[in-house]
Amino acid sequence: MGSLAKSVIESSVDRLTMLSKAIEEKTRILTDTLRAKGLGAPSYQANGLSDFPLNEVGDEAIRARQEIVALTKELHDLVLGPRECLKTVAWDVSRNCQIFDLWRIPLAGSISYGDLAVEIHRLSGTTIIPSDLRRLLRLSIANNIFQEPNIGSVAHNRASLLLLDDAALANWVAFFTMDMMAPIANTVAAMKKWPGSQETNETGVNITFDHKDSFFDHLQADEARAKRYAIMLQSHGSREGYDISHTVLGYPWARLGASTVVDMGGSEGVVSFAVADEFPQLRFIVQDLAGMRTPEAMDKIPKHLTNRVSLTTHDFFQPQTESADAYLFRHIFHAFSDKYTIEILRALVPALRPGARIIINDIVLPVPGLLSQLEEKSIRTMDVLMKAVCNSREREVDDWKSLFEQADKRFRWQGAWKSSGKLWFIESTWEP
Ligand SMILES: C[S@@+](CC[C@H](N)C(=O)[O-])C[C@H]1O[C@@H](n2cnc3c(N)ncnc32)[C@H](O)[C@@H]1O
Repeated sequence: MGSLAKSVIESSVDRLTMLSKAIEEKTRILTDTLRAKGLGAPSYQANGLSDFPLNEVGDEAIRARQEIVALTKELHDLVLGPRECLKTVAWDVSRNCQIFDLWRIPLAGSISYGDLAVEIHRLSGTTIIPSDLRRLLRLSIANNIFQEPNIGSVAHNRASLLLLDDAALANWVAFFTMDMMAPIANTVAAMKKWPGSQETNETGVNITFDHKDSFFDHLQADEARAKRYAIMLQSHGSREGYDISHTVLGYPWARLGASTVVDMGGSEGVVSFAVADEFPQLRFIVQDLAGMRTPEAMDKIPKHLTNRVSLTTHDFFQPQTESADAYLFRHIFHAFSDKYTIEILRALVPALRPGARIIINDIVLPVPGLLSQLEEKSIRTMDVLMKAVCNSREREVDDWKSLFEQADKRFRWQGAWKSSGKLWFIESTWEP
């Protein structure tokens, strides 16, 4: 926090006082706003609010909330002290020993652990003895999921009800705790076994499951896992700062004039539809793998865009055949290691005409310490996850620049910027 820059002369005790005062001040901003607007705050009570009403409170309160999250974390960690903090990090691995898919049980009021075990068996076929159920649930309760209104009986709270009401969120939680926990734990083992590997089948996933498939083949090999992944992606994409509006508004599309843009790995075309809606002079060719071109997907092109947006099939590792004004890669390269990213960029070359733009809309890793601790943690987590599942990575601005240089000297770097949201724009042009 700029306003709380640590001075070398500030004593550790003063720091605690400063933090608590700042927390009080920021909390007042937040509560005054909520009261003035007649809004509630989130609560873990079963009928409480599950999210902060961010859309209704205005920028000052949004900033105050972010600061409270950072300040309370700092105060918490300082009051624990480095030794206890380290131990807490290590102990917390057990909190994920919560079988979230089992927790999605409709309950009217409260139920005994014994009756809940019977209900779980009836609904899911899973046998879990009441004493094991109780130990797992009591750990969940200690982490604010479920409640025990009377000793021996369990009831939903707001967090556990969310797992029931919001399928995308429930699958997000289940995917990371059930499918990702062991591969992440094996990531260092994979780094040691295949130092610096850029291959998609030399990761913690391969060590955990003892196979040579890529992560995506691994997902598809188990129907339940593939389903969890597909549903959880809806929750992932809807995280604050990742929605398509930032892609529409963050790039000066109007300056392209009457142009054709190839949306590489554009899935079912939603990004192209959104940009085409705002910029009527643009045409889009959305390329993706054949598997994405189901009759249902083809039916989803909005009627008013059928003359400007087409959904086509193209594997971006194969030589590009569409000669266009621009090629958009949104959220593609972070899933590919440098070796494969360079291959994808080189595959464009046969179709590139002078001045063609390569527009990347993706994550850029900041210099450490630039973002709030919360944002820093989120982006660093994503970087490690990409390593854990496919040996790819998030990149700093210079890494992006270097990829173009390595791919072909005829790419001319135009820069990288972010106007809103979490994804940056990174651009090069073709100057033979
Ligand atoms: C994370 S999604 C991004 C989708 C879209 N660009 C967006 O921003 O919402 C990655 C997309 O790349 C596509 N893809 C993966 N490998 C591909 C390949 N070899 N050729 C073309 N598309 C591919 C996937 O099918 C998927 O639609």
